[in-house]
Amino acid sequence: MEKVVRSSGHDLEINATELVKSQAHIWNQIFNFINSMSLKCAIQLGIPDAIYSHGKPMILSQLISSLPIHQNKRPDSRLIYRLMRILVNSGFFALEEVVVGETNLLEEGYVLTNASKLLLRDNPLSVTPFLLSMLDPIMTKPWHSISTWLQSDDPTPFATTHGKEFWDYNEYDPRLGNLFNEAMASDARLVTSVVIEKCKSMFEGLESLVDLAGGTGTVAKAIAYAFPHLACTVFDLPHVIADLQGSKNLKFVGGDMFDEIPPADAIFVKWILHDWSDEDCVKLLERCKVAITCKGNKNGKVILVDMVIVEEQNNKDIGHDHHAHDHDHQSYETQLFFDMLMMVLLSGRERKETEWAKLFFDAGFSTYKITPILGVRSLIEVFP
Ligand SMILES: C[S@@+](CC[C@H](N)C(=O)[O-])C[C@H]1O[C@@H](n2cnc3c(N)ncnc32)[C@H](O)[C@@H]1O
Repeated sequence: MEKVVRSSGHDLEINATELVKSQAHIWNQIFNFINSMSLKCAIQLGIPDAIYSHGKPMILSQLISSLPIHQNKRPDSRLIYRLMRILVNSGFFALEEVVVGETNLLEEGYVLTNASKLLLRDNPLSVTPFLLSMLDPIMTKPWHSISTWLQSDDPTPFATTHGKEFWDYNEYDPRLGNLFNEAMASDARLVTSVVIEKCKSMFEGLESLVDLAGGTGTVAKAIAYAFPHLACTVFDLPHVIADLQGSKNLKFVGGDMFDEIPPADAIFVKWILHDWSDEDCVKLLERCKVAITCKGNKNGKVILVDMVIVEEQNNKDIGHDHHAHDHDHQSYETQLFFDMLMMVLLSGRERKETEWAKLFFDAGFSTYKITPILGVRSLIEVFP
């Protein structure tokens, strides 16, 4: 054992094995962004779509010739090989043997995984719009300003970087606004497909529903279609819903949800409360309570789609299966990523169950029920 680091004060002695392990850990964390940027490149080049169109395992040379890259980049096959190697490592592609041409020789070809199937351009549940929005330079730049923001009086790192708050910026820059709305709509398609398949009973007995801050109406359209007797209203900022057409049981209403929320049996609130501070959430929940009870309706409820942070200690207790633990660790880390995202873009946060319960009770609700069926998010019904 060697003593390699000395200092007065703290004990900084680390043995050589631990020293290089710690250095490697730091490197791994420094370069975390390389996973996301490599993935972004693959999506921009249309790699999942190229492999999907090929219809069977696609060998490297076939992949290279199908991609829209410069002719001077084609001869060095190791460029795309290296990009694919890191994406195989991060679980976006896998390798399978395939017979190539008439030689009967087996070669390894790339196939899609469940994760890359969700990144196909034409998959209605595609997560690609979310990826392109979150990894746009306007969205990633504020991550450089967290410490500057903490030393300033600015509301968010986003405002420190861009001089405007997030929602104002979306209105000011339609390119980013459209990218963001499309990201939300794509997520809404995925979540709605799960909610309608697994939670039909949640909508039984309801006659009216408001999708609060429902963006461009993807969720409400699907709910209105699946439950034709339910009168649905999408409520969002006037510029978001401008020019959108309703249908027989769907209408769009523009306004500020902090002023007034249209009355209904249920208020559906997907991915909204995590955008806001505790004080603003209590205000919104109070407005929701008025909206579901103002017509004397005692059976009204608020249906939230949001994260409930499950801390790692609890995750560890779930079981001893190593893979299950890896999965739980990743889910917890994903929840923490979102929590930081809410700090950087907005003044929101992700919350633990006790923190949610406090908001509900502070806003005058009496009970709630959490149904964790949406991966790292949950459905939460809140009752007056
Ligand atoms: C994170 S997005 C969620 C959209 C949608 N619920 C979904 O999950 O697809 C937040 C939405 O809140 C809307 N919003 C922000 N401030 C608002 C306000 N004061 N009143 C109404 N809507 C607002 C935004 O326009 C945006 O559509």
